[in-house]
Order: sequence, then C-alpha cells, then structure tokens
Amino acid sequence: MTKMQSDRSCLAIILAAGEGTRMKSRQPKVLHEVGGRSLLAHALAAVAEAGADTVVVVIGPDRPDVASEVRALLPSAAIAIQAERRGTAHAVLAAREALSGKHDDILVAFADTPLIRPQTLLGLRQALAEGASVAALGFEAQDPAGYGRFVTRDGELVAIVEHKDATEAQRAIRLCNAGLMALDGRQALSILEAIGSANAQGEFYLTDAVGVARERGLKAVALQAAESEVQGVNDRAQLAAAEADFQRRKRLEAMKQGATLIAPETVFFSFDTRLGQDVLVEPNVVFGPGVTVADGAVIHAFSHLEGADVGPGATVGPYGRLRPGAKLGANAKVGNFVEIKAADIGEGAKVSHLTYIGDASVGADANIGAGTITCNYDGFFKYKTTIGAGAFVGSNSALVAPVTIGDRAIIGSGSVITKDVPADALAIGRGRQIEREGWAKTFRDKAMAKKSAAKKTPE
Ligand code: UD1
Ligand code: CA
Repeated sequence: MTKMQSDRSCLAIILAAGEGTRMKSRQPKVLHEVGGRSLLAHALAAVAEAGADTVVVVIGPDRPDVASEVRALLPSAAIAIQAERRGTAHAVLAAREALSGKHDDILVAFADTPLIRPQTLLGLRQALAEGASVAALGFEAQDPAGYGRFVTRDGELVAIVEHKDATEAQRAIRLCNAGLMALDGRQALSILEAIGSANAQGEFYLTDAVGVARERGLKAVALQAAESEVQGVNDRAQLAAAEADFQRRKRLEAMKQGATLIAPETVFFSFDTRLGQDVLVEPNVVFGPGVTVADGAVIHAFSHLEGADVGPGATVGPYGRLRPGAKLGANAKVGNFVEIKAADIGEGAKVSHLTYIGDASVGADANIGAGTITCNYDGFFKYKTTIGAGAFVGSNSALVAPVTIGDRAIIGSGSVITKDVPADALAIGRGRQIEREGWAKTFRDKAMAKKSAAKKTPE
C-alpha cells in the first residue's frame, strides 16, 4: 500500500510498554507474530501508511529486544522508555520531547492492536483537520467488560469512563474505547499534563484527554471501527483470533485482485504476500513471508512457499516447497515433492518430481529428471551448481557442487557428476552395465535342483 497523502504533519506515538504476562512467554508480547511479522511491525506499518512523518515507540525498561526490533523495522523511529507503568497518558508523556508542538496531528496507537487499518487512522486525523482537538476511536463491543465506555451527548464525545470507574448506567453503554486516539499537536502536551490520577487504578489515563479538552471548551469526537479491526492481543487465544481475522482479510484482498482461491479458508498468507491476476491457488497452501506470484501461475495443493518469486504461468506442486531465494521463470514447472532453495529456475524449465535444487541456476527449458539432487553442502560450506539452457539431467543423478553442466548437455540417469560437463556433451558417471547371456537360467536351474534334493532327504 502506498503512503497516504495529507499536508498536515503527523507524529505517531506507539505504546509498547506492555507487560504481556498473560502470553506466558519468554518473549515480549509485541514481538509475537501475526501474518509473519511482529505485532509491533503491524502497528509501525499502519502509522507509516497513515502518513506519520515522525514515530516514537514507548517501551518498558530493560527491553533491548523490543528496542532492536524497532531499530530494525524503522531506523528513523525514536525510542522512549517509560520507566514505570503509571498509565496510558503517562506512557504518552514518555515521548514528551517529541510533543513540542511541531506537529499538526498526534496519533497514539497501541502496539498490541495489529489489525488497525491506515484508513481508520486517517479518519482520526481527518477529524482533527475538521476542528476536533481530540478524536477517539470506538467500537460496539460484543462483551464490553473491561473496556472504557464512550459517554456521548448530542453526537459529541463527553467523556471516556474506564470500566473500573464506571457507574452501573455507564457500564450498560456498548460503545467502547478502542484505545487509539488523535490529538491536536498544538494542545496535546498541555492536555496530557493536565491529566490527573484520581481514579480507581491510580493511573494517568489517556482517556481523560477527552474530559480535559471539554473543560477547555475544545471539541472531542468519537469515530467507530469494527471490533475485529481494533481487537487487542493479550493472550495466545487473542493472538490466534487476530491471526484468523488477518487471514480473512488477506484472502479477500487476493480474490479482489483477481486470484482464484478454491478453498480460501485453507490458504495462509503473510503480511507481504503478493498474488497477480488469474493466479490459481489450490487448497492447503502456506505463503511464508516474502512471496510474489506473477499472473497466471498455479500453486497446487499442499505447497509451502517462503521468500520465493514465481514467474508468470509457472506451476508449483502439489506438495512443492519453495524456500528463500527460489525464483521461477515464466512457465517453469516445479512438481511434486520438489524443494528449491536459493536457485533460479529458467523460463520453461521443468523440475517435475522428487528433487532438491539448492544454490543453483537452471537454464531455460532444461529438464531435471526425477530424484535429481544438487549436493550443495560438504558439511562446512555451500557450493553452486550451474545447469545450462536446454540441458537434460537423467533421473536419480547427484550433481556434486561446485559443478557446471553446459547448455544442451545430457546427463545419463543415475550419474554422480563431480566434474564440469561441456555444452552439447553426454556425461555418464555410474557403474558400467554388463550382461551375461543365459546366466539367470543357469542360476535358477541349479538353485531349483538343490532345493528339491533337500526336500527328499529328511533331516
Ligand atoms: C485501555 C483504555 C481503555 C480501552 C482499552 C482498549 C486507557 C486508560 N484505557 O485500557 O479505555 O477500552 O485500552 O483495549 O487508556 N501502556 C503503557 N504504559 C502504561 C500503561 C499502558 O505503555 O503505563 C500500554 C500498554 O502496553 C497497551 C496500552 O498502553 O499497549 C493499553 O494499556 P492497557 O493497560 O492494556 O489498557 P487497558 O486497561 O486495556
Ligand atoms: Ca489492554
């Protein structure tokens, strides 16, 4: 998706200081993955696509793992440490330095809410452009328990009341706070500093920005999103629920763009999977990160692809495995029980059955027979195999790398090839066949005679 345009500058603050104890994990919650990338990466991508030009990620103390993920994903992002967990407003204020009034819009997003769409964040920014000082995102909760409630009057947002602080009447409100908020950049710091901690949890609530703004005669508005978009991840079950919704979204996207998924519910995508038009994906296919499939390609059932590029009209599987660096040219064929790793398969080349091609290049229209193996690894180093255009490798051959097979060369079936083969040559590297006329008959006659003699003599 391309970055969306707005002439207003935007600072995004991502709160990632969560403890995540309910994940029961050695890993911090925000580094758990949905669709092949971390929850934090989803949040960073969403704010970037919503036009944030400056990003600050607020993390907890002693979290070098989260800090290095931030640096790897978005080197320009600043990292702020919230030394003590004293509430969401307190967390935003950890990014105080960035809140100097330079930005028109301040977006606050939670790192554990991975399905938020950039359009929704842009909606919050739009509300600021239209004169609101605070824009909060809400949703109709199936089960509102635990969430902050939106108190509205005449279509305006009057307050957000945390569940623990809410009256019975307020608890009956279904419109809940998703947690994401946009604040006017000129007033944000002063609003945040005015927030107190006189509440049930003794915390500084970001949600109180609404009340503070109203007291100052400023406008606060509520926007609404679907619950599935704003669902947070606090435990493994919610992680799986987020994954399921992410997958539903990706499947629909692929079909909208012209791919056929015969059984969409059995196809799994990564955040960056790209399928062209008229791609056919059969049931039970997994796309790991980094896969591009060009127009008209077919991915047969039970295939697993990762870091791979499939050319136009190429076919993979059933039971194909493309590992990182696999690149299939136009109309190339990778058949059943074939594994390709770090290898270019040329246009129209065929690798049809039971084969491993690793660290290799296969020329256009080459034919690799069943059971061929590139022996690319000696236990210490990896070596390259080069197979020329139009070459024919007989079945069950072992190509011991480094080795080059020239264009149009033929390799006899069952060969172990350890030396380069010139173009147009025949190479055979196997035990020579011998025939002994009548040998089988003689052997059989002798054996049968011995057997019947043994039967006549009782032991
Ligand atoms: C928050 C909202 C609530 C909303 C709910 C939606 C507040 C006061 N409440 O409640 O209205 O319905 O989210 O899920 O904002 N965090 C920090 N530092 C802190 C506290 C929180 O970084 O000191 C981060 C957390 O890591 C998390 C986010 O802020 O990413 C929300 O914090 P959490 O404690 O889960 O808030 P809730 O009580 O769920
Ligand atoms: Ca929460």
